[in-house]
Amino acid sequence: MSEPSAVPIDPKLVAALRGAKFVAALTGAGISAESGIATFRDAQTGLWARFDPRELATPSAFARNPQRVWDWYAWRRERVASAEPNPGHRALAALERRFPEFVLITQNVDGLHQRAGSRNMVELHGNIARVKCSREGTVVARWDACGEGVPRCPRCGAYLRPDVVWFEEMLPEDALATAEDAARRCEVLLVVGTSAEVYPAAALPESARACGAIVVEVNPEATPLSERAHHVLRGPAGVVLPALVSALD
Ligand code: OAD
Repeated sequence: MSEPSAVPIDPKLVAALRGAKFVAALTGAGISAESGIATFRDAQTGLWARFDPRELATPSAFARNPQRVWDWYAWRRERVASAEPNPGHRALAALERRFPEFVLITQNVDGLHQRAGSRNMVELHGNIARVKCSREGTVVARWDACGEGVPRCPRCGAYLRPDVVWFEEMLPEDALATAEDAARRCEVLLVVGTSAEVYPAAALPESARACGAIVVEVNPEATPLSERAHHVLRGPAGVVLPALVSALD
């Protein structure tokens, strides 16, 4: 892996960050790629290779075959549990400690930001470690993981499901409101590891830009956001973000 200092950071961006009081970050699956967790645009691996996430992460897929959806998330929970935060996650946690106000908005459900030390967070799409009743929506702390079949709600008997946002579902209102407020108020928005194609998350960088924020894209590939960003740091988050932290030291 190349040294962080090998990543050129525009001095104007460094100056803007040095003077900023409120910085926000929006992350996607790309920041967990270097932790070994496949992004949505990567092909699925192993047993689940033949499935497209869009065929599994939907209410209709769960209604049609709750066991298959439950098993897919159990497999993903195991992969996440055995993954470790990478230098990109840790760099964002370091940045949070550097600014008077810092909000991390993530589309990821893997919990790696929290494990890296990020605290002031918005989970737009939920968290795979949490499980809720598919009827009442209440989070269930513990469930019978060794029993056969899909566990059921201890109160109403409906199937339990992962506490994540599925395709066709609305995002948690409070999370979205907090994210939109952060996008409008921040001075710099770091957009890391997202294809910037899935709304409403993908609208946040435009909101930030419209309110005068400096928008920075961190991604090894171009996205629809690239030509709208004020700075594009073309590289993997695990190299670029530590370089950004080093440039501020
Ligand atoms: P995607 O899989 O759509 O995009 C991943 C992005 O990460 C791509 O732009 C890659 O170029 C980039 N990338 C890959 N490796 C990287 C690295 N090492 N460092 C930085 N970037 C890297 O994932 P998301 O944009 O997160 O929604 O997808 C957004 C949403 O689409 C997901 O939250 C999910 C999916 O539908 C729901 O589940 C509701």
